[in-house]
Amino acid sequence: MFRTHTCGELRLSDVNQTTTLAGWVQTVRKFGSITFVDLRDRYGITQLLFAENLNEQLDANPLGREFVLQVTGTVNERSNKNSQIPTGDVEILVASFTILNKSITPPFTIQDDTDGGDDLRMKYRFLDLRRQAVKKNLELRYAVGRSARNYLHEKQFMDIETPFLIKSTPEGARDFVVPSRMNPGQFYALPQSPQTFKQLLMVSGYDRYYQIVKCFRDEDLRADRQPEFTQIDCEMCFVEQEDILQMFEGLIKRIFKDVKNIDYTESVARMTWEQAMWMYGNDKPDIRFDMQLCNLKFPAHSFPHQTDLSSLINGVDFKVFDEAETVIAIAAPGCSEFTRKQTDELTEWVKRPQIGMKGLVYIKYNTDGTLKSSIDKFYNEEKLKAIAQAVKAVPGDLILILAGAEERTRKATSELRLHLGQQLGLRKTDEFKLLWVLDFPLFEYAEEDNRWVARHHPFTAPKPSDIQTMIDNNPVIESAADYLKHPYANIKANAYDMVLNGNEIGGGSIRIYQKELQQKMFAALGMDEAEQQHKFGFLLGAFEYGAPPHGGIAFGFDRLCSILGGSESIRDFIAFPKNNSGRDVMIDAPATIDDKQFEELQIKLNLK
Ligand code: AMO
Repeated sequence: MFRTHTCGELRLSDVNQTTTLAGWVQTVRKFGSITFVDLRDRYGITQLLFAENLNEQLDANPLGREFVLQVTGTVNERSNKNSQIPTGDVEILVASFTILNKSITPPFTIQDDTDGGDDLRMKYRFLDLRRQAVKKNLELRYAVGRSARNYLHEKQFMDIETPFLIKSTPEGARDFVVPSRMNPGQFYALPQSPQTFKQLLMVSGYDRYYQIVKCFRDEDLRADRQPEFTQIDCEMCFVEQEDILQMFEGLIKRIFKDVKNIDYTESVARMTWEQAMWMYGNDKPDIRFDMQLCNLKFPAHSFPHQTDLSSLINGVDFKVFDEAETVIAIAAPGCSEFTRKQTDELTEWVKRPQIGMKGLVYIKYNTDGTLKSSIDKFYNEEKLKAIAQAVKAVPGDLILILAGAEERTRKATSELRLHLGQQLGLRKTDEFKLLWVLDFPLFEYAEEDNRWVARHHPFTAPKPSDIQTMIDNNPVIESAADYLKHPYANIKANAYDMVLNGNEIGGGSIRIYQKELQQKMFAALGMDEAEQQHKFGFLLGAFEYGAPPHGGIAFGFDRLCSILGGSESIRDFIAFPKNNSGRDVMIDAPATIDDKQFEELQIKLNLK
């Protein structure tokens, strides 16, 4: 037998037992004539004691970091115990040992606080994966997957695999394509998601489908995006939006319970897309903290149902506000005593190109009730107080105001809110707040092509009350400047996103299941009949054979894991991730292929 125990297993109750362990040498420490070795495996670390009698053998076979070692010995109580590790009360008095394999010196220390930089650790990911910190992340990922599978299985969902070599599924990114040797000049696309297949499974009558599945998207990468990532992908038929929200709230709550032992008993908060944009400037608001936006001025067509507060800021000839399309304020709690340096820093922060604002106005609402601002020249104390009241600020708060073009200003205020939330410690990684964002617009305006694109994807159904608007109106946009006045701009989708701590962890919709409406949708997106047939003939065809009403959702599995694990980066939760240029630096991919492969594929490179 290679081993009788693992390196995480032995306790005081095992003292005097004979044991055989196998693992990797973490450290070797010599104390006079005895040698201590920390032996590591997936389950933990156990201290080994090599007494004087083994010195000769050790001298002939010196141990080094990451050597693979097998030892047999007796479990002893330690004189100086280590309370930091579960095996810290015992050590193994080694009777014999065998070096199973040697290791050259690893390029970084394989410990929680490693000295290896990101690039180096990715190049030697197989070593990085030996680190406890990374292992914990993969264990969490496994636990999330297991919990999801258990829940979905109990709810009668069936795990069905769908193909990877397919035709394009539009999810808003570019496709990765694969040439076909047997069909020269033709290409498969890797799925951006199993969207059309899961819908076809509904047509086939598999009324509850799920799959934990890889998706492939050629898009710009960020900390929360990988070119290949994993979804918990689900679809149901004979459901309405409410059924889906309930079912998948249940899924996430179950994962919280199983993985983090959190009882998330309250209902998941809900907000419409419009409310989210109005109150947080963002369609995935972090509701762990308040600091809502106060819209002092905004274009009427953007938020037709909201009250206009511009009289609060008008009439004093302050050009910055007068000339801006939008003016938005937030109140930072307890920050009225920010120094000049701190407000200057915030101003510089909003002026960075990523945020793109020209400046920042502040009003200090002092604890004694007086007000001091960077716009004292224009606004008397009475006016400042009126603004402070509108922002729901209280003495002690610092009011920050941004002014400019609608989209940019809203986004910038949202970013500033998140920045301050972070700075003030209001975004705690051990606090979890879920939110459903509902009623998204069905269409988004694509400026470059002056046409509509699907905000979610082209299979998403409009709200039943908006279907007639879609049918009755011509999708053509006459005046790009006025696209918001086009009836299509107000059509709402039967779509929903689940947001966790300000991250979109899932999204889905009720689908179109009638052929005619699907054709109308494709046409609205600028696809003529020939293109519709070429790209989606199979789906339109299937809709002619009794397609049931259906809907679904997909969760970003990697993203969910990273948030539950308290990390910004999904890479930490993927065994073999890609870097920001989409490269796997360990296997060095992508790479060139042989001439022979090009020949077989009948492909000639024409690099520019
Ligand atoms: P969507 O495109 O919103 O929906 O994707 C669902 C969820 O997947 C995650 N996600 C990503 N995670 C890591 N890297 C990426 N590049 C990436 N892109 C998306 C997000 C997102 O919420 N077929 C539809 C779902 C449906 O309608 O049922 C879809 O794929 O967390």
